[in-house]
Amino acid sequence: MILAAALLGGCATQFDLQAHRGGRGLMPENTLAAFAKAMEIGVTTLELDVGITQDGVMVISHDRYLNPDVIRDAEGRHLTERGATLMSMPFAELQRFDAGRIKPGSNYAKTFAQQQAVDGERIPALSALFELAKLRNASDVRFNIETKISPNAAGETLPPEPFVRALIAEIRNAGLTARATIQSFDWRTLQIAQKEAPEIVTVYLSSQQGAGDTVQAGKPGASPWLAGFDVDDYAGSVARTVAAAGGSVWSPHYKDITQALVRDAQSLGLQVVPWTVNDEADLTRLLDWKVDGLITDYPDLLRALMKARGMVLPAQFPPKL
Ligand code: G3P
Ligand code: CA
Repeated sequence: MILAAALLGGCATQFDLQAHRGGRGLMPENTLAAFAKAMEIGVTTLELDVGITQDGVMVISHDRYLNPDVIRDAEGRHLTERGATLMSMPFAELQRFDAGRIKPGSNYAKTFAQQQAVDGERIPALSALFELAKLRNASDVRFNIETKISPNAAGETLPPEPFVRALIAEIRNAGLTARATIQSFDWRTLQIAQKEAPEIVTVYLSSQQGAGDTVQAGKPGASPWLAGFDVDDYAGSVARTVAAAGGSVWSPHYKDITQALVRDAQSLGLQVVPWTVNDEADLTRLLDWKVDGLITDYPDLLRALMKARGMVLPAQFPPKL
């Protein structure tokens, strides 16, 4: 655990303000425009999701396939249905699609009504984000990178081992092992990362919300998401299961936790960084509970709440003139 704290940038006591998908409440999700805006606002960490194209380019996308809620074709029309998987097309072909505008009139657009469109944004390569951070001299900013892979959709991505190896190589090539974390709901990828790159901190995601339940407490056998760990062997405690898996950071769905669960996890030496918290009352409650960080679509709002409490604020990185 001490090593993990040191690996977390020597800032184990500094609160971790994470811009979810670059700050989806403000800018088109997982685009360079969003990450640039988040660096301007000033966040500790850029949260993002990755997949891999047919020709092996690591790209930033929440979905394993083209999502009609955010993706437009070369003629500028939003897709009408779920598109091809990232894995089925080369990077150059993927670049024909526009990711800069949420589909008008969709429920998704209603949820993120303040999101500003940036036409022309593409699904970026992970390496392009690393370059952008370098160009901004954002030498402190961190990257919380989620492997978007599902044990229930084996054919839609690379298998866990090559997926994680490719991500580790990207992070190492960029010299960012001390500023990147690998997060996943699919703990198989975290177990592989811990073995192959112990210098990179892993983050254990969990959800116990309805159809998205990855934990499956009280059900026979282990959840396919938890790499063979069965939460029922740990008295139903996700935190204890994360600790048993060798994790040092737990990212639960914010509705799954209580103050007592936060305390219990922290007493095990875990950092607790809930996702994805957008409402001021929820952010306030979780700050009061002394979580170690928060993942939000509204990094500007969380930063303002932190400022009002006199908390240390992350550096801001405006565009260079
Ligand atoms: O970091 C956790 C959070 O991003 C998980 O949810 O679906 O937005 O990737 P999702
Ligand atoms: Ca994510």
